[in-house]
Amino acid sequence: MLKSHLCGALRAEHAGMDVTLAGWVHLRRDFGGVVFIVLRDRAGLVQVVVRSDVAAAAQDVASEVRSEYVVQVEGVVRQRPDDQVNPDWPTGEVEVEASNVRILSISKTPPFYIYEDAPVDEALRLRYRYLDLRRARMRRNIVLRHEVVQAIRSYLNARGFLEIETPYLFKSTPEGARDYLVPSRVHPGRFFALPQSPQQLKQLLMVAGYERYYQIARCFRDEDLRGDRQPEFTQLDLEMSFVERDDVLDLIEDMLTEMVPEVTPHKRVVSPFPRLSYAEALDRYGTDKPDLRFGLELVDLTEALSESGFRVFSAVAAAGGQIKGFAAPGCAEYTRREIDELAEIVKAEGAKGLVTLAHTGVDVKGPAVKFLSRDELRRIAELTGAGEGSLVCIVAAEAGVVATALSELRLSFRDRLELADPDLVAMGWVLDFPMFEWHPGEQRWDAAHHPFTMPRPQTYGQMITDPGVVLSDAYDLVCNGYEIGSGSIRIHDPEVQSAVFSVLGYDLAEIEERFGHMLEAFSYGAPPHGGIAPGIDRLVMILADEGNIREVIAFPKTNQATDLMADAPSEVSGRQLRELHIRIVEDESDS
Ligand code: AMO
Repeated sequence: MLKSHLCGALRAEHAGMDVTLAGWVHLRRDFGGVVFIVLRDRAGLVQVVVRSDVAAAAQDVASEVRSEYVVQVEGVVRQRPDDQVNPDWPTGEVEVEASNVRILSISKTPPFYIYEDAPVDEALRLRYRYLDLRRARMRRNIVLRHEVVQAIRSYLNARGFLEIETPYLFKSTPEGARDYLVPSRVHPGRFFALPQSPQQLKQLLMVAGYERYYQIARCFRDEDLRGDRQPEFTQLDLEMSFVERDDVLDLIEDMLTEMVPEVTPHKRVVSPFPRLSYAEALDRYGTDKPDLRFGLELVDLTEALSESGFRVFSAVAAAGGQIKGFAAPGCAEYTRREIDELAEIVKAEGAKGLVTLAHTGVDVKGPAVKFLSRDELRRIAELTGAGEGSLVCIVAAEAGVVATALSELRLSFRDRLELADPDLVAMGWVLDFPMFEWHPGEQRWDAAHHPFTMPRPQTYGQMITDPGVVLSDAYDLVCNGYEIGSGSIRIHDPEVQSAVFSVLGYDLAEIEERFGHMLEAFSYGAPPHGGIAPGIDRLVMILADEGNIREVIAFPKTNQATDLMADAPSEVSGRQLRELHIRIVEDESDS
């Protein structure tokens, strides 16, 4: 080894020891007779002192080095005098008095500072990702990700799970996004699909009798990207045989409750995780991925206001819509501009407007007050729990619009009023999802989770007559306003599976082509089974206090699904295309 110790690992107990360090020049300050180098390696920073009176040759070399040069330093660890201790650094009690400095590699001036966590244009960070990854914030995130994955592995290994790899070159799987396709050279005109998840394969492993499987699995989905979505991402993919829903939920709950304080001791997980039905989540929070760290729950005012003289309310109620709202404490003095900002949030979700009632302490203020009776104002205050200083926010519209509008508004108050404790990891389960979703545009039913999800036995009878009321044995794990995992108990009976396919409108030829291999496998003795797939990127993002999963992925894609560092996707040679039997045709809309 070119080094005896890690820079960031030196402590007072090493004082007096001869060490050889190697790393990057984080900072260099030259005071003539003395050069200070802050040396960095993966463990952190340590100060090196190079004095001309002690090591003249070393000092000459040290004068030459620049930021990000790679150097090797031989020297002795010295305890710093009390008044020079740097309490901000783990190595702050010591410094290394150099006897020899050797340049191992020189560096161009980096395009941004490595030693500061100041904001840098993200395109530049992604273009030079290997430099970005040198920065403390990224290193922390990558190390945390490693710890999370290791904790998962050791938890599951101890409970009899087998880690099994499944192929990337596979067949289209119905997770609902577009596939990334891989052309086959040896079979002209045929394509593999990169798995959107190992869903079918893990179920086949259950048919194969492995009973407890997991994998840290890469998944590929060609979908519109957001802060919490990447075209390739990682799941803890897991499947178990001979289990019921609660067995899966209890396992994941126990794993996370044990892991979170282990990898992030400053974070708190509240267990048991609250369990909400899908209907309850929508009713109370307007979303199936509620942030459970704070209140501001939505209150239904439809009944109380259905006869209101205020046309906006009574018309919506008469048309079968909803009137809902909540009271935001301490916001009664919001300015016109602030109220307009709030209105814009609900309008962006399709609401016509926002009704606000400011409880100033003296009276209730707001443009709608003159249309509402005293009694109605009192009922609203009662139901929403509005007190002095509250700003009641109400949306009246079709139920779906009310839900998304108030859900967004609720999150906006979370940020404005800092209602959510950043160190709280508020996990929860959302259960009893609808089995099918109606697509009005295409006039057909779609699987809300995926077509292998077991319908709840209580609602199974209505599968053919009224698919809209069928509930499924699917569950989502939510955390701080994100969906971080999803799973279900699966169908293991080919007859139930056929009934689901027929609701989805698949004809026999299509079923055979897409799922023939699954149905065939299930005809050879399939155990009852179920599983889940928590997203590793989203989980680590939350634990790392980041707002975007790119920050916890070593080499992520941009929002346009490109790699700025390697410039991918890129064109390929005509020869490669010919070999793959592919011809590029200009899109007709382009010509
Ligand atoms: P689902 O499609 O809900 O379920 O995905 C499970 C979890 O994977 C994560 N995730 C993503 N993370 C980053 N970028 C994306 N584009 C992305 N898409 C999904 C989320 C999500 O909760 N096979 C089923 C699971 C099962 O039934 O066992 C599945 O993939 O955290």
